[in-house]
Amino acid sequence: MKILIIGSGGREHVLAWKIKQSPLVKEIYCAPGNGGIAGLAECVDIPADDIEGLLDFASQKRIDLTIVGPEAPLVKGIVDYFTASGLKIFGPTKSAALLEGSKVFAKEFMHKCNIPTASFKTFDNYHEAVDYTERAEYPLVIKADGLAAGKGVIICEDIAQAHKALEQIMQDKVFKEAGNKVVVEECLEGEEASLLAICDGQDYVMLASSQDHKRIFDDDMGPNTGGMGAYSPAPIIKRELLNKIEARIIEPTIRGMNREGAPFKGILYVGLMITKQGAYVLEYNVRFGDPEAQVVLPRLKNDLVPVLLASCEERLNEFELDWDNRACVCVVMSSGGYPGEYKNGFEITGLDAFNGHDKTVVFHAGTKLVDGKVVTNGGRVLGVTSLGANLQKAIDQSYAAVEQIKFDKCFFRRDIGAKAFIHMEQPSQKR
Ligand code: AMP
Ligand code: GLY
Repeated sequence: MKILIIGSGGREHVLAWKIKQSPLVKEIYCAPGNGGIAGLAECVDIPADDIEGLLDFASQKRIDLTIVGPEAPLVKGIVDYFTASGLKIFGPTKSAALLEGSKVFAKEFMHKCNIPTASFKTFDNYHEAVDYTERAEYPLVIKADGLAAGKGVIICEDIAQAHKALEQIMQDKVFKEAGNKVVVEECLEGEEASLLAICDGQDYVMLASSQDHKRIFDDDMGPNTGGMGAYSPAPIIKRELLNKIEARIIEPTIRGMNREGAPFKGILYVGLMITKQGAYVLEYNVRFGDPEAQVVLPRLKNDLVPVLLASCEERLNEFELDWDNRACVCVVMSSGGYPGEYKNGFEITGLDAFNGHDKTVVFHAGTKLVDGKVVTNGGRVLGVTSLGANLQKAIDQSYAAVEQIKFDKCFFRRDIGAKAFIHMEQPSQKR
């Protein structure tokens, strides 16, 4: 088979790495790819949101299956275009991708389906929103409706912060038309976890649980990022809680999307807040998480390709997934300054030691090849990922590798995985 992967981050690198192991696959292309993916796939210089360009390429190369990494092309309707041209593509249609593309749609949908989520109001009028925030309880969460590259959620401690958030989103339009509407919601307290299911419109298979680390600094301090590291499994999600999440969140979502006339195929990613009262949905995403994919896919024993094909062909009821019992940890090495401004183009050294390494894989997130050298080319640069007999071993292995990889102005968190030990009998070791 010929596979096309769309995207250029660590998530797309782990997808290429996993798919490369499939005996069904002869050729892999990645658009646009990165310096690491170039070792596994032929990178083609087409941006991830150039639907027409991607469609031309896939038709001309007779691609058998296209896998979309990021949300933007899904929300723009790439699946509808490919399917209309008779090309197989893994992911939700434009109307199903609204679960991520519109927070107003997602919240109203959850409300209709009785899916646990923070209580909320939606507004398309700035003055009405301001009025509401003057009577609300704090902290309060304000969210731009549309895609905002992970920056559209603002937690407000008081009225002044809420006013500023509404002004930026609805008047200054810092996220453009994504800020035409807002969701204003209750702030939930608890611990976050990510659960992903592969769906075919009717049936689903759960992927292993994972936890991301969204904030830039240790102990979850500082601004939100795309994710500074992850681990799988997430010990906070015990069997009983998982059963409840499937019954109260995953299954009602799939049934509800059918009632909406938008059957959900592809990855259903629920971002959860585990509170004292149980699991609440903070957000839906409609694609693999990044860096969650980097810790979940290395634990999957099945060939991924038949599972993705079964999602497209509505045959997921035939599948059961088999997981490696080991823990997986990904430590993201980022460019100093991220998630604010940073410089690109620094040479990365120390990567060769991990070619074919038996415990650690270095997934590239923001790199490119210049004259045969790998240089930094993004905020998140590398995802240093290790499997270990237990979580502590995986953490130690990833950090030992991080110490050997160097580039100027490199920054990484030193506490990836530490919060998992609260839910385990095994104590954490101080670093
Ligand atoms: P979202 O894009 O909706 O997941 O929001 C991004 C981040 O904002 C989440 O990962 C949480 O850390 C935080 N967040 C979103 N909604 C809430 C909420 N209702 N209560 C507390 N934190 C939230
Ligand atoms: N790691 C968070 C996300 O992929 O949205």
